Amino acid sequence: MYMIDTNRFMNWVLGLTLAAGAFVFFVTLVLAMFGGKRTGRVMSYLYMLSGIFGVFAVAVVVMGLRGRKSDGRPWHVFLDMKYQPKYTSQGQSKFFADGRSNRLPPTNTIPFDGGDYTADAGYHDSPNPIFLKADARYFFGVANADMKDKDGVPAKPKWDAGKLNGEGYFVNHIPAEAITQAGGWEPLLKRGQQQFNVHCAVCHGASGRGGGGDVAYGIVGAKGLSVPPSNVVTPEVQAQADGQLFNTITYGVRNMPAYAAQVKVQDRWAIVAYVRVLQYAAGNTANEKK
Ligand code: HEC
Repeated sequence: MYMIDTNRFMNWVLGLTLAAGAFVFFVTLVLAMFGGKRTGRVMSYLYMLSGIFGVFAVAVVVMGLRGRKSDGRPWHVFLDMKYQPKYTSQGQSKFFADGRSNRLPPTNTIPFDGGDYTADAGYHDSPNPIFLKADARYFFGVANADMKDKDGVPAKPKWDAGKLNGEGYFVNHIPAEAITQAGGWEPLLKRGQQQFNVHCAVCHGASGRGGGGDVAYGIVGAKGLSVPPSNVVTPEVQAQADGQLFNTITYGVRNMPAYAAQVKVQDRWAIVAYVRVLQYAAGNTANEKK
């Protein structure tokens, strides 16, 4: 099949046009210099043609080189801050000995969720579980991921005569992993108390009773929030599964912001344990929580 290579073809057209222009210009030049006092119609046409071809040639030079490949830096009339004295990610640096602009976080930096950068760097036969988050019960507080109704509302835990009898969407109890990690119940509760007082007490108060205005237990509530922080020691909140409390801290709930970025997974479980202590201290008993 015969096809015209348009690029080639246009290059020829362009070349011939420019050559014609150069010729006209040359003739004009010769006649103007050696043609004596030649004026009149022919001469003015020649000047005009030279002018047109000249403008055309300039346009071709400026525009025609666009799209050409070159290793050089392109011309930028408007720089628009394209070139800045900065390091780009994955870029090179002459400053650092390893030649990389990317720096590892300083030693002992703790990423969100409490992983370990150095331990995770490189290749491992068994990947760091903290980064994998495969254990849905520990990392998300989810027992049965498919137990949501068609509106996405998680199934409630099952109760039988005042006793928990089966899990819903969330885990009913703090996973054993959390207790092991803390080194037992007591350290877990101590840590929970400390973390609750750091992260939650500003709004919910040290007793967890929350509230707004004159009856606020937390500083923020007393100063005023459009929605007062909930009382978290009510039978309603106590009836929630441990996994749901964990979920509330992780993702927030309605007007309450998420605390996943501030509070590690392990510390979230510790807080859940401590919230249970507060509820117990408030006089709720297990039988009331339905
Ligand atoms: C910035 C203030 C603020 C902080 C800090 C805060 N909360 Fe809340 N929390 C709220 C507000 C406001 C609500 C009520 C949200 C609503 O009803 O829209 C709420 C509601 C809740 C509820 C009730 C959820 C429900 O299902 O009814 C729980 C439980 C809770 N918070 C636990 C916590 C815990 C645990 C922490 C600490 C990690 C915490 N909150 C930190 C403001 C806060």
